[in-house]
Amino acid sequence: MASIYQKADIYDLLEDREHIEIYKKHWAALLKDKGIHSFLDVSIGSGSVTLPLAEMRIEVSGSDLSEEMLEKCKGKAQNAGYNMNLKCSDFRDLSCWEGKEFDCVASTGNSLPHVQNTDVLKALEQMDSLVKDNGYLYLDMRNWEKILHDRNRFFLYNPVFIGEDRVNLIQVWDYHADDSMTFNLLYTFEKNNQIFQKEEFEETYYPIKRGMIIDKLKSLGYTEINIQCFPACFSMPEFERVEWYCIMAKKH
Ligand SMILES: C[S@@+](CC[C@H](N)C(=O)[O-])C[C@H]1O[C@@H](n2cnc3c(N)ncnc32)[C@H](O)[C@@H]1O
Repeated sequence: MASIYQKADIYDLLEDREHIEIYKKHWAALLKDKGIHSFLDVSIGSGSVTLPLAEMRIEVSGSDLSEEMLEKCKGKAQNAGYNMNLKCSDFRDLSCWEGKEFDCVASTGNSLPHVQNTDVLKALEQMDSLVKDNGYLYLDMRNWEKILHDRNRFFLYNPVFIGEDRVNLIQVWDYHADDSMTFNLLYTFEKNNQIFQKEEFEETYYPIKRGMIIDKLKSLGYTEINIQCFPACFSMPEFERVEWYCIMAKKH
């Protein structure tokens, strides 16, 4: 089964100016007074969450496993006139960035749970090796503890219109005995009440508990570990109710 990350054009269909403005507010709230000028996203994808930072005059670099997503990101950056350093790399081995250090190293977009928990710990070590002293490590992800508690299966998205074509997305989530999950993504494309294209994708996830990340960050010497709602411009409800959160931690 194909991965959505091989079809960056379809992945980006749900992106719009409203999301970009929310991400700008997210970064403005989160990075305020932290002196962050250089930012590396190790799962930058097509840049949906991170490109707004370039709009805020932060020097953005990025890597990702998917060439297709990176190509899309490069196109969007070029169109906007941003000069970005992009590399194809697995976040479990970030040696492609050796010799560089950043004010903030991030994994955006719920990307770390694509690998098993033991590999997430390796990825955090790799990310840490690229953070300057007094710099920050950032990640955002879905609240997997809530997902495993609620065990919802069906997610219907509002349609998107591209000219006369209507695009619908349905997600169906499978919960496996070993606690891994499969997200099934079904896109249908309609014109004149006829479906003329269907696209199916499958993504595997390995749910992460926030305690595992916090313990690892502490063992790597991070302090001021803050958990906020994602996007951070919204207030954080009780953890049990938040759908998606971010962690920002300072390295000493
Ligand atoms: C849900 S997308 C998020 C993309 C982007 N950060 C955003 O928010 O739009 C997940 C991204 O993680 C990337 N990814 C998955 N496994 C990876 C790995 N082991 N190393 C680096 N990137 C990975 C995928 O290629 C994809 O671009």
